Order: sequence, then structure tokens, then C-alpha cells
Amino acid sequence: MTDLYAVMGNPINHSKSPSIHAQFAEQAKQDLVYSAMLVPKEGFEPAVKDFFKGSGKGLNITVPFKEQAFQLATALTPRAQTAQAVNTLVLQEDGSILGDNTDGAGLVRDLVMNQHVEITGKRILVIGAGGAVRGILQPFLEQDPEHIVIVNRTFEKAQLLADSFKDLGSIEAKAFDELTEAFDVIINGTSASLAGELPPLPESVVATHTAVYDMMYAKELTPFLVWAQNLGANKIIDGLGMLVEQAAVSFEIWRGVKPDSVSVLSSMRKQLQGM
Ligand code: ATR
Repeated sequence: MTDLYAVMGNPINHSKSPSIHAQFAEQAKQDLVYSAMLVPKEGFEPAVKDFFKGSGKGLNITVPFKEQAFQLATALTPRAQTAQAVNTLVLQEDGSILGDNTDGAGLVRDLVMNQHVEITGKRILVIGAGGAVRGILQPFLEQDPEHIVIVNRTFEKAQLLADSFKDLGSIEAKAFDELTEAFDVIINGTSASLAGELPPLPESVVATHTAVYDMMYAKELTPFLVWAQNLGANKIIDGLGMLVEQAAVSFEIWRGVKPDSVSVLSSMRKQLQGM
């Protein structure tokens, strides 16, 4: 029987994951079907159990269920444990459900492999202290950056996050008005771009060598990337590559085959621009 995979979320109708995974499966000659499943807000756990009772082998989990997936998993990878959120569930031979989080690995792969942006030895500014940022800090710290600074609208949340990751590397929280020097890499992990807003960063954080990344993406450049471009940033990058790469890491975990994410990213870029 064909193995089934799906992404569960609410809402789910704009998800690009079915298209990405269908392309991976075709390239890698994998016999599988990947669909998008709209799950009622109160119905996550039964939906997962039903899925795995049938031919379901793996799931991606998106908003608002990543924390519930973390609770539901019977075993967790260390990076999912640290992120306290799960975006990938894997049905194991013995019937247990392994939870992983591939978001941070996806971002690191997009930066390092696709964009040739170094993290090792660099000074990194991360904006935001929500679930998205929690998911990327361990994979970032594993790359051994010189230092990570976290800023957030609600400073206390940045402080808590920096405290909980400080054993893994050099990381501190700062207030926006304490920022003076330029960074090598800046990551926007806030949802401000969704509201068409900009985090209140001083212009001095961007220099001509700075790579600026927005975890959001849209047909047009996000306001954050336009701001960085106008300041002369060396590179501006949106989150489409992160989306494709986190999917590639999930696919590899499920199927044991590494898909050609570069060609899929370029086809997803064309799709986005044609919309
Ligand atoms: P996610 O899981 O996507 O990270 P979240 O946990 O709600 O979602 O976190 C959203 C992040 O975006 C937070 O860091 C939030 O700042 P607060 O902690 O102060 O709420 C940040 N954010 C959202 N809208 C913003 C805006 N307009 N300007 C600046 N930061 C914003």
C-alpha cells in the first residue's frame, strides 16, 4: 500500500508543503502520497492517532499545533526537546511516534548551503523570542557563531530565551536601544512582516557586509527586507528557502533519501512569483 504523509494545521489551505513533497517524491522515485489536512482546533490528538492507524507514516505539523505535537510524541529528538515544539512526526516500527523539529536545520541549510552565508565565527542578531526563534537557536549555536544577540518587543521573553540557551554557546538578550554595532547576519524571526510592520532596529545594525534574513516570505519583498536593502545590506533573503529545506530534512528522516532541494526551491520561487 502507498505510504501516506500529510501536513496538519489550521488554517492549511495555503500550505506549500504538498507541492514541495510531491516534487521530492517524484525526483527520488518514492511511492508516497502527501496531502494537507485541516484539523479542528480541538481535534489534533485524535486526528494524529487516526492517521497513524491507517497507512500514515509521517506528518508535518504547523500552526497552531507544534506545541501539542511536542506533548503527543512518545519520543523526542534532542533538538525538538530544546525547541519544545515539533514540526515532524515519524511513525516508528514499534508503533511509537518520534517528534523532531527540522525548522532550525532548514534555516541553517538555506543560509549555509544555498546562500553561502557563514554562521561559524560570526556575530548574529536574532529578532523575536516566540516559537519560531526557539526552534532555531540550538541549530545556530551548533554552528559555533562568535556571539548571538536576541532582541524582542517584549524584552523579558528575549531574556528568558537567552538564559535557557546560554549553556550551549555565547548568547545574550539586549534591548533595541542598546544595539549600536553592525552584525554579520541578522535573522528576523518575528511575525511583524505579516502585519506589514518593522521591528524598531537602529540602522547601525546593517553594514555593507551584513546578510539579512526574514523567516517570512511573500511575492513581494517583506518590509523588513526592503528596509535592509535600502541600507545597503550585502544580501537579503526571504524564508522560502527555509520552508523548502525544513521539508527536505523531514523527507530525509522519513524516507532515508536526500531530495534535490535546490531545484525544488527554484520551482517554488517561480510558482510564488507567478501568483
Ligand atoms: P511564532 O511561533 O511565529 O514565533 P509567537 O510565538 O507568537 O509566534 O511570536 C511572535 C514573535 O513576533 C514575538 O517575538 C513577538 O514579539 P512579542 O514577544 O513582544 O509579542 C514578535 N512580534 C509580533 N508582531 C510584532 C511587531 N509588530 N513588531 C515587533 N515584534 C513583533
